[in-house]
Amino acid sequence: MKRILVTGGLGYIGSHSVVELQQSGYDVVIVDNLSNSRRDVIDNIEAVTSVRPAFEEVDCTDMAAMQAVFDKYEGIQAIIHFAASKAVGESVQKPLLYYRNNIVSMLNLLELMPRYGVKGLVFSSSCTVYGEPDVLPVTEDAPIKPATSPYGNTKQINEEIIRDFVKVTEGVSAIMLRYFNPIGAHPSALLGELPNGVPQNLVPYITQTAIGIRKELSVFGDDYDTPDGSCIRDYINVVDLAKAHVVAIDRILAGKQDERVEVFNIGTGRGLSVLELVDLFQKATGVKLNYKIVGRREGDIEKVWADPRKANEVLGWKATTPVDETLLSAWRWQEKLREKGIQ
Ligand code: UD1
Repeated sequence: MKRILVTGGLGYIGSHSVVELQQSGYDVVIVDNLSNSRRDVIDNIEAVTSVRPAFEEVDCTDMAAMQAVFDKYEGIQAIIHFAASKAVGESVQKPLLYYRNNIVSMLNLLELMPRYGVKGLVFSSSCTVYGEPDVLPVTEDAPIKPATSPYGNTKQINEEIIRDFVKVTEGVSAIMLRYFNPIGAHPSALLGELPNGVPQNLVPYITQTAIGIRKELSVFGDDYDTPDGSCIRDYINVVDLAKAHVVAIDRILAGKQDERVEVFNIGTGRGLSVLELVDLFQKATGVKLNYKIVGRREGDIEKVWADPRKANEVLGWKATTPVDETLLSAWRWQEKLREKGIQ
């Protein structure tokens, strides 16, 4: 069985990816510092797959502890690196925390790869690297725009570090996946997003409002240059996104890469506005949502959606889950959290 290290494997995208990896026959070792995740996610992963993944409570910035993980679990063939701080606003307030967490973790992993014969890395990048794109849909060749937050900057810097390192390190290769906006939850309602405090992202705010934790959703801006005036994004189902990681790992381990560092947009190719998403949520769930239009949120991009053709054609991956099904899965997850008394 091929062994894969998944950092941040108890987090939102990480946990869904662990499930897909296990269901594709991989042996998964999770490293997570529990900074934005719960230990009982392991039980829920096991409940879905009937396999309990190995877990080490380790911080990726701790080099000695990471080395001990590689010593303990021999034969790790590839790494998927999810572990990172991801709150855009917080990153503006605490830049050093973001640079330390996100950059030092990356440096440690890269340094350990050749030492332990690890062949490949899949890195969680983001469409944030494109900033406000000049051409839509955005392809992987679009220029990288100056980052608007330390969080976004860590994605750009890590992409550059990976390129520089792979160039001079034989036997190591990488795939960088630029995610658009991941939403939804596992169809089992056993896994999903667990926001810390007041959600900053749209869909968790919607589901918390629908269930009565929040009074109303604020729609940030209706005066953008879009058909209904609200911002447009490419919302990608989290299970579809998780599957992209399995395909990327398969490709690295099969030695099928065209270049030793490849980059793929992971999105649906469809742009939806905030107001369209709110409407789709209400239709899919039959729940009425309180919302009001407020001013723009600083730093927001007006419109961005993916050209996913490279991932479709080269990776053989495609987003398939209809958005109403995805929104319903997010709602089921929110109901499950209520049932369990978590949120
Ligand atoms: C942001 C980051 C992205 C990061 C992602 C994950 C930017 C430009 N992008 O994506 O890099 O990977 O978060 O944390 O900062 N909205 C509302 N009301 C709300 C919440 C959001 O109207 O209460 C709107 C936003 O204005 C936006 C859309 O919903 O138009 C999506 O917002 P959000 O879910 O926060 O994602 P992004 O800002 O696209």
